[in-house]
Amino acid sequence: MLFKQQVWLRQKLLVLGSLAVGSLLYLVARVGSLDRLQPICPVEGRFGGASSQAEFPLRALQFKRGLLHEFRKGNTSKEQVRLHDLVQQLPKAIIIGVRKGGTRALLEMLNLHPAVVKASQEIHFFDNDENYAKGIEWYRKKMPFSYPQQITIEKSPAYFITEEVPERIYKMNSSIKLLIIVREPTTRAISDYTQVLEGKERKNKTYYKFEKLAIDSHTCEVNTKYKAVRTSIYTKHLERWLKYFPIEQFHIVDGDRLITEPLPELQLVEKFLNLPPRISQYNLYFNATRGFYCLRFNIIFNKCLAGSKGRIHPEVDPSVITKLRKFFHPFNQKFYQITGRTLNWP
Ligand code: A3P
Repeated sequence: MLFKQQVWLRQKLLVLGSLAVGSLLYLVARVGSLDRLQPICPVEGRFGGASSQAEFPLRALQFKRGLLHEFRKGNTSKEQVRLHDLVQQLPKAIIIGVRKGGTRALLEMLNLHPAVVKASQEIHFFDNDENYAKGIEWYRKKMPFSYPQQITIEKSPAYFITEEVPERIYKMNSSIKLLIIVREPTTRAISDYTQVLEGKERKNKTYYKFEKLAIDSHTCEVNTKYKAVRTSIYTKHLERWLKYFPIEQFHIVDGDRLITEPLPELQLVEKFLNLPPRISQYNLYFNATRGFYCLRFNIIFNKCLAGSKGRIHPEVDPSVITKLRKFFHPFNQKFYQITGRTLNWP
C-alpha cells in the first residue's frame, strides 16, 4: 500500500516538474524572441514598408523624435543603424532662400511632419567652392539619418543669390523640389540689416544707419549696390534659377503669413511635397511672450525658435521706406507674374 502511494506521488511530481520546466522553457523562448523583435517592429509596423509610402501615423512622430534624435547625436552603433534600416539621403527638397524670409521657421515647422527629416545645420555645399569640391558623398554624409520612406530637407539661404548654385543643384538632381520663402522686400532688407548690425554691436563696432546704406547719398536714389537691397529683388535671382528649373519645381512660401498664420502656409507646402497632411493646429501654438508661433511636437516636447529669430528692427525714416517700396514695386509685379502667387505687397 505504502509502496503504491510512493509510486503515485513520484509520478505526480514528475508530471508537475515537467510542466514547470516546459512553462519555463516556453517563457524563456518567448522573451528571447520578443527581445529580438522589439527594435525592428516599430519600423515595420509604423511605416508599413515601401508600399505604404503615403502613410505616416502620428505615433511615428514621437518615435522619430526620440530615436532619430539619438541617431543624429551619434549615440548609436552601426548595428542599430543597420537594424533600423536607417540611411543618409540626399535632400528631396531644399529651402534655397531667402535670407531673413523665415527659412529657419519653415524648416523647423516642416520637421513637425513625421515624413520629414531636417538637416539641422546650414550645409553651404552648393554656394561654397571649398565644400563643393569635397563632392556629393561629403554632402550626403552631412545629412541626418532617416528611414528610406522619409524625405530629407536642408536649408541654406545663400543658395538663392549665389550665381553657381542652380547649375550645381541641377547636376545633383534635376527634379528636386525648391522652396523659396519671401517677405515683403523692404521689411526683409531691414531684417537683414538688423542681423548685420547686431553682429557689429556684439564686436563693439559701430555701423552705418540703414538709411545711409539703402540710399545713395549722391543720387538720392535706392542704392542697388547694397546687398540687403539686391537680395530683396527676388525676380532677378529667380530668373537665373529658371534657366535650369521649370517654375513648377518651385514653391513660394509667404513668409509674412508664416509669422501670423503658419498652418495654411505649411499645408500648401505639404501638398507641394506630396506629403499626406499631418501638421495640425495642435503642433503650433502662439507664445505671447515671444510674439511668435512656437512648435509642439507632443505633450512633453515643445520649442520656440532661438532669440536671434524675431529681432526688434530699428526705426527707419518713413520716406526711405516709401522710396524702397516704390523701387521694389515693379520687381514684385514681375515676381507675382512669374510665380503665379500674388502677395499684396505695397
Ligand atoms: P526678424 O528677426 O526680422 O523678425 P531666417 O530664419 O530666414 O533668418 O528668418 C528670420 C525671420 O523669421 C525673423 O525675422 C522672423 O520674423 C521670422 N519668423 C517666422 N516665423 C517665426 C517664428 N515662429 N519664430 C521666430 N521667427 C519667425
